[in-house]
Amino acid sequence: MNLHKASLFRLFLSFFPRHAHTVLHTLRRSTARGRDNTHRLRNPNATDRGLNMGKYDEVYHRSITDKEGFWGDAARQIDWIKPADKVLDDSNPPIYRWFRGGVLNTCYNAVDRHVENGRADQTAIIYDSPVTNTKRQVTYRELLDQVSRFAGVLAANGVTKGDRVILYMPMIPESLVAMLACARLGAIHSVVFGGFAANELATRINDCTPRVIVTASCGIEPNRVIAYKPMVDEAIDLSTHKPEGVIVFQRPQATATLDRPGDRDWMEEMAKAEPHACVPVEATDPLYILYTSGTTGQPKGVMRDNGGHAVALKWSMQAIYDVNPGEVFWSASDVGWVVGHSYIVYAPLLQGATTIVFEGKPVGTPDASTFWRIISEYKVVSFFTAPTAFRAIRRDDPEGEFIRKYDLSSLRTLFLAGERADPATIQWAEEHLKVPVIDNWWQTETGWAIAANCRGIELLPVKFGSPTRAAPGWDVQVLDEDGHPMEAGKIGSLVCKLPLPPGTLVSLWNAEKRYVDSYLTDFPGYYKTGDAGFLDDDHYVYVMTRTDDIINVAGHRLSTGAMEEVLANHPAVAECAVIGIADELKGQMPLGFVVLKAGITTSPEVIEKECAALVREQIGPVAAYKQTVVVQRLPKTRSGKILRGTMQKIADNEEYKMPATIDDPGILPEIQEALEDIGLATRRQG
Ligand code: COA
Ligand code: AMP
Repeated sequence: MNLHKASLFRLFLSFFPRHAHTVLHTLRRSTARGRDNTHRLRNPNATDRGLNMGKYDEVYHRSITDKEGFWGDAARQIDWIKPADKVLDDSNPPIYRWFRGGVLNTCYNAVDRHVENGRADQTAIIYDSPVTNTKRQVTYRELLDQVSRFAGVLAANGVTKGDRVILYMPMIPESLVAMLACARLGAIHSVVFGGFAANELATRINDCTPRVIVTASCGIEPNRVIAYKPMVDEAIDLSTHKPEGVIVFQRPQATATLDRPGDRDWMEEMAKAEPHACVPVEATDPLYILYTSGTTGQPKGVMRDNGGHAVALKWSMQAIYDVNPGEVFWSASDVGWVVGHSYIVYAPLLQGATTIVFEGKPVGTPDASTFWRIISEYKVVSFFTAPTAFRAIRRDDPEGEFIRKYDLSSLRTLFLAGERADPATIQWAEEHLKVPVIDNWWQTETGWAIAANCRGIELLPVKFGSPTRAAPGWDVQVLDEDGHPMEAGKIGSLVCKLPLPPGTLVSLWNAEKRYVDSYLTDFPGYYKTGDAGFLDDDHYVYVMTRTDDIINVAGHRLSTGAMEEVLANHPAVAECAVIGIADELKGQMPLGFVVLKAGITTSPEVIEKECAALVREQIGPVAAYKQTVVVQRLPKTRSGKILRGTMQKIADNEEYKMPATIDDPGILPEIQEALEDIGLATRRQG
């Protein structure tokens, strides 16, 4: 390691101190691999398909220098009612729009055209639910029947093009049916993850003002059945906007009482529904809104349009994920997250592939063999999940014994995303699965990978800790605070030069100014990802940390600001701060610090329990908020800014410098002691 690399390495370890040994080992290995290219694995199928072997550089170069030609060609894979007048409308920077003037229907491209083109009897959806002991397959023909009839149900309930429909659904095929039915009508769906509480649902109801909500009677976690309908009712009671109807898919595990005006039973509605044809929509019309955490309690409604989304996702299915029509692709995520939208629903179906809807967990349903059973049973060729799922499996099956019991010969690639893929996890997966393990970096906003090893174009050497290079269409750069480019190896803000490729966010729902302020203002001419990292000499991207207060818990993006807003409402709390601390399994876990109001005599144990209950009730179990520390004071700068970063470093045993602007340095030892009391901050500095 030369001096430059050594300082980089130190910086790296300051982010991930617990992985020091493994990281050192894997960095050495990956450097060696990068040099001699021995790790360059070839995809035998690529040549058969005439795909561009050894062509990443060429494809990438064209995607940046001839954007319109590149995406114009990709657009030919989509059936248009009317082709675009202009591939890229760049007349109004920094707002760019793809395929202006084009008219299409996303649902037609994902369903109808496969039925028309000989895939009617192919399985479109495999539903595998170990939590209910259910397996079911839906062909493209059956999917078309269900989607067109459910579109009829929505239309009969007053939903027309441009209306919003909120879906609060578990992992069942009907969730996909409802999403596609919205797309069929040109209605805009907004799926809310089932782990969010009524209050979060209410915030989204108020923001996107849906005409109708579609839900199921319950969701199923391994340890409990969660009744959804009472949660939806509570959310509607809390919100100022009142949807006209709630359509409920009844599940036998807990049926819902449908006793409110506007309540409808999915099955009864379907029985009397007329199938609805696809409604032509503009390429630039919104397809969906997906809310994601911002730095405050008000989530950001990321908007995706129809044309760019269909083009980019269809293209990515082969170029990045190496999946052909008719093959089985599995993304073990949830339809409530962006990975679920893109790679459980839209991309595989646009490609005419088979997608798997999995209702279960990587471990405990029933054990750490579930993933391997599914891959072998359905002959999955490409599998996509979050590193945290692999950490859970590895914890339960460190020697990979379950893996050896299954025939996984169909599997060509494992893709990981949603959080930083730690080298130890990648290495373990690679060793036991014996296929390339590809980390890809993306965000709810981007809709697909910003950086990835494009399996279907050319498999580049893997460097552990890096999601490889920018995907075609993405001009990734690293800038310092003043917007100057940083040299290779230096950490700065990861930004993407505008225009972004198709399929990325086009705005925030009802908040164009927030969109411009959040993403396009700090670095004019660039999209600010909110991630910090660096590019190495080979242009490999390294994503190291967020530059804001967003944390990533088990691959789920959460706002510490939103949690602080909840804690601040506890009657005994004077002030508070929430940070994300390192966690072996989930990557990060939230930890709250609270200062109590004068005169409060309630015991800290009771306060801690109440805080955990409050966050669970207000945000939901997905926040995984369990730990609170009661402290006398919070460390702040002289201007009153809470030193969250310093507290996080103390909790994680990282080196930290006494901030020059600290108001009272004496508070840091108090924080250290409070953390020691709960088993953190075991290493004192200095
Ligand atoms: N509905 C209701 N509750 C939900 C839920 C849902 N859809 N999803 C999660 N929850 C609950 C869990 O039951 C848990 O509740 P608990 O506190 O009562 O135990 C809580 O939310 C936290 O969930 P999670 O952080 O997922 O922890 P877990 O212990 O249940 O599972 C993993 C841990 C690692 C197995 C799991 O997080 C996982 O599989 N992660 C992969 C993530 C992923 O696919 N992300 C998408 C990006 S690619
Ligand atoms: P989400 O919007 O929920 O998909 O979360 C996006 C954030 O997750 C990114 O901004 C990153 O901070 C993190 N993330 C996602 N994928 C990766 C990855 N492959 N490597 C590092 N961080 C990632």
